[in-house]
Amino acid sequence: MDVLEEPVPEADPCAPGEFARFRAACSRFVNGPEHTRRRAWLVHRLEGLTLDTDGFARSPEFLPVAVLARALGFSEPSELPGLVAEMARAYPTGAGSPDAATREALARAPREEPELHLQLLVQAYAATAALARGVEPPVPATRRVVDGELVTVPLDDHPFGAGTRRCPAQALARTLAGMVEP
Ligand code: HEM
Repeated sequence: MDVLEEPVPEADPCAPGEFARFRAACSRFVNGPEHTRRRAWLVHRLEGLTLDTDGFARSPEFLPVAVLARALGFSEPSELPGLVAEMARAYPTGAGSPDAATREALARAPREEPELHLQLLVQAYAATAALARGVEPPVPATRRVVDGELVTVPLDDHPFGAGTRRCPAQALARTLAGMVEP
């Protein structure tokens, strides 16, 4: 799908607030070489994770993020699903300012690249819950900038996206979705 190779709408790195700063530090809302760098870091970080569900409730909104948070080395992983739920609502468009949740989540993130670590949890939250619940497509649409216009791109034929921005966690997402009890 060629339109998915068009640039994404960028988050403003100078916008005020912890959530806006977090969003601008993710791979998802930046273009060019910085996208390549951040994405490569994420892809590498996702390799060889050990998934441990011990002690966690099995709901689609809780288990995937808690297991991923534990695997990535967040402190208090069972606190992350609630914080990330608040962030995930505002994440795709940037409408909303869950600054307190962002601050609390970043405080529990590993020291290296805390925003990119947290991006993995935010990306996982709604998409993996929808996948586990059988919603199709789990992520209904994404956005690109084409000839200066913001366009919505439906994902019916590409549930995990396509091209240089396709989801880097397809196999992991399926594994996590298979661990829940909807
Ligand atoms: C463990 C769970 C998941 C993680 C950690 C994760 C992570 C990510 C990350 C980091 C990106 C951004 C890639 C980039 O900036 O280049 C991404 C993109 C994407 N993810 Fe996932 N994801 C997960 C689950 C899912 C699920 C279940 C779906 C839907 C079936 C999904 C659909 C997508 C799509 C469509 C994109 C591309 C968006 C676009 O091109 O605009 N993800 N994911």
